[in-house]
Amino acid sequence: MRQRADAAAGCRHIRVDFSPEVTLQCRYNIGFFWPYFGVFMDFQTGPATKAEIAAIAELEHAAFGEHCYPSFLFRQAFDLWPELLWCVRDNQQVLAYLLAAPMLHRPKVLNIMSVAVAPSQQGKGVGQVLVQSFCQSQQQNVDIFWLTVDPQNQSAQRLYQRLGFTIARYEEDYYHPGEPRLVMELDLTNKT
Ligand SMILES: CC(C)(COP(=O)(O)OP(=O)(O)OC[C@H]1O[C@@H](n2cnc3c(N)ncnc32)[C@H](O)[C@@H]1OP(=O)(O)O)[C@@H](O)C(=O)NCCC(=O)NCCS
Repeated sequence: MRQRADAAAGCRHIRVDFSPEVTLQCRYNIGFFWPYFGVFMDFQTGPATKAEIAAIAELEHAAFGEHCYPSFLFRQAFDLWPELLWCVRDNQQVLAYLLAAPMLHRPKVLNIMSVAVAPSQQGKGVGQVLVQSFCQSQQQNVDIFWLTVDPQNQSAQRLYQRLGFTIARYEEDYYHPGEPRLVMELDLTNKT
């Protein structure tokens, strides 16, 4: 995982430091001049604080509209799985969040329930920093990460594929009748 993630990071000009309070630098693309004239932004990643729950709920609504999770879910998740509600911040502003949950009888398997980047921050590499830093923070204890993605959400699928996720299965009528899902997974059992 680390090698794959590093390779993916390298080709996107994201530098990752694996310290517990991870600091990342992401190079923003500026029109035609990239990669010669970039602006470096410092991001902090880590578990959400209680004070950030309202911002996460707001971001969720901005990203998913009427299909968003209710805000109280994040308050409950904060109590249940504090290390699995994960943020990317810039100057204390929440830019993106990820929520994962454990599987009761499969302790080495994590389900990534939600991934969202604030609309104004999309397309800048924040999503990749988010998923990559979260998976790295859990890789000592986790063999398999899996998630659900809408088959039409190509941008999300490409993001996951860049980080080593593969399509595990397709399932009809998941969200509603006629609305299928793809299950993607990152299997670290062959990690060296
Ligand atoms: C899907 C989502 C999480 C992706 O996050 P993101 O921050 O936009 O993702 P990234 O910036 O890492 O990658 C998006 C694109 O920007 C490109 N990109 C990244 N850094 C870049 C840079 N510095 N310059 C130019 N392009 C860049 C990536 O190559 C990628 O291109 P692609 O879609 O053609 O593959 C985000 O769009 C989102 O929150 N969407 C709404 C909610 C959602 O769909 N969640 C996922 C549910 S499974």
